[in-house]
Amino acid sequence: MELFLDTANINEISEINNMGIISGVTTNPSLITKEGKDFKETVKRIAEIVNGPISAEVNPNLTKAIDIINEAHVIAQIHPNIIIKIPMTEEGLKACKTLTREGIGVNMTLIFSANQALLCALSGARYVSPFVGRLDDIDIVGVDLIKSISKIFKQNSISTNIIAASIRNPLHVTECALAGADVITVPYKVIKQMIAHPLTDIGIEKFKKDYN
Ligand code: E4P
Repeated sequence: MELFLDTANINEISEINNMGIISGVTTNPSLITKEGKDFKETVKRIAEIVNGPISAEVNPNLTKAIDIINEAHVIAQIHPNIIIKIPMTEEGLKACKTLTREGIGVNMTLIFSANQALLCALSGARYVSPFVGRLDDIDIVGVDLIKSISKIFKQNSISTNIIAASIRNPLHVTECALAGADVITVPYKVIKQMIAHPLTDIGIEKFKKDYN
């Protein structure tokens, strides 16, 4: 199982990458806009820092497969590690199939049901991104979706990787890891929460005192 970092903030990416715990990065239009910098420059910079799959999303206003494919070709040129992130729609599935045949990795995003994940896998997606937190927000247990997709993929020997996304807290990470996620994409704040434990702090203080 792998951890990706879910951010477009260069400082956060550099800091966490130096700990050797992440093997990729996911971005989306909201995360890119939050940083206020050029899309291509930001994605290129991220790919130069982290040596692993970097998800960069196509313009969500594109509704035709051909337009999604054309933009994907441009984005894929930014760096060899780029994975094209495409929202789950009928045209998105068509684009996924074409891009996959061309050897371009696709991460199908905004997945909220096992059937959506299955369709993405059948269209050749390298990754599917079920959104755990946004389901919890509407009173549906998000981690149950990870369990269902994982079971379906395992039973049918489907090689598409599940990226548990929309992670809001450390418990989500533990639950998604137990549920069979291949990757969990975690915001900076949650990585920090995962590192910390009050008993570790108390233990260090006691060791310091005794050492001195
Ligand atoms: C990552 O692939 C998703 O875009 C991201 O995790 C969504 O998170 P949010 O629901 O907190 O916006």
